[in-house]
Amino acid sequence: MNLILLGPPGSGKGTQAKRLVQRYEIPQISTGDILREAVKEGTPLGREAKRYMDEGKLVPDEVVVGIVRDRLKGLDCQKGFILDGFPRTIAQAEALDRILGEMGRGIDHVIDIEVDKEELLRRLTGRRTCKRCGAMYHVVFNPPKADGVCDRCGGELYQRDDDKEETIRERLRVYEGQTAPLVEYYEKKGLLRRIDGTGGIEEVEARILKAIGDKG
Ligand code: AP5
Ligand code: MG
Ligand code: ZN
Repeated sequence: MNLILLGPPGSGKGTQAKRLVQRYEIPQISTGDILREAVKEGTPLGREAKRYMDEGKLVPDEVVVGIVRDRLKGLDCQKGFILDGFPRTIAQAEALDRILGEMGRGIDHVIDIEVDKEELLRRLTGRRTCKRCGAMYHVVFNPPKADGVCDRCGGELYQRDDDKEETIRERLRVYEGQTAPLVEYYEKKGLLRRIDGTGGIEEVEARILKAIGDKG
């Protein structure tokens, strides 16, 4: 199964991708996670990407397209993959079509997770992520058992650099301007599945499974 998770910052792409990974045993490819890892390692890619990410702007298309092209060649992607946060521009979507076409593959479903702006702001300002295993929490909606400590691995929880209110607002603007046009792009191809992203995490997951024809 080859999936794309579309949706604004904070809509729950990462949260849902991690659940789908467990269910289908296919990898999550999050360009945001890959870029944050590069920033942490201080690689040339990370140094370039950081400038854009800290301002809530998109990293140039060529950079992310290169990352995804390499990643899709991984043996673990043969059974399928979940793209989380890619593509984010029409140019990226067109590049993805070419890459998959060359591989003789295609996309099965594009899941557009819809959440209103006030809720997105609440979710992002309260988000905490585990430094060690990447598990995601929310101080109110999905709190860890002990403050600042990951339930799964005991790792330290941190707040993302781009989760400051001002940067969040810029990310939402960028989404509207550059990424929202992908809804129409995939609708025309008959691949778009619109999902109400409000309600509990399990409720949203159930809607996704239904939309992609998983009868459990
Ligand atoms: P990226 O890391 O992709 O961030 P994003 O798109 O802004 O999305 P988020 O990760 O913030 O949100 P999410 O939808 O994953 O929500 P989550 O599950 O965490 O990108 C970051 C940056 O990298 C970009 O700004 C750009 O600079 C660069 N970049 C990345 N990809 C790029 C690309 N393709 N091209 C160019 N640049 C790129 O959930 C959020 C919170 O809500 C959590 O606290 C969670 O616990 C909570 N939550 C989740 N579901 C629910 C629910 N149902 N109810 C209540 N709370 C919930
Ligand atoms: Mg994410
Ligand atoms: Zn952890």
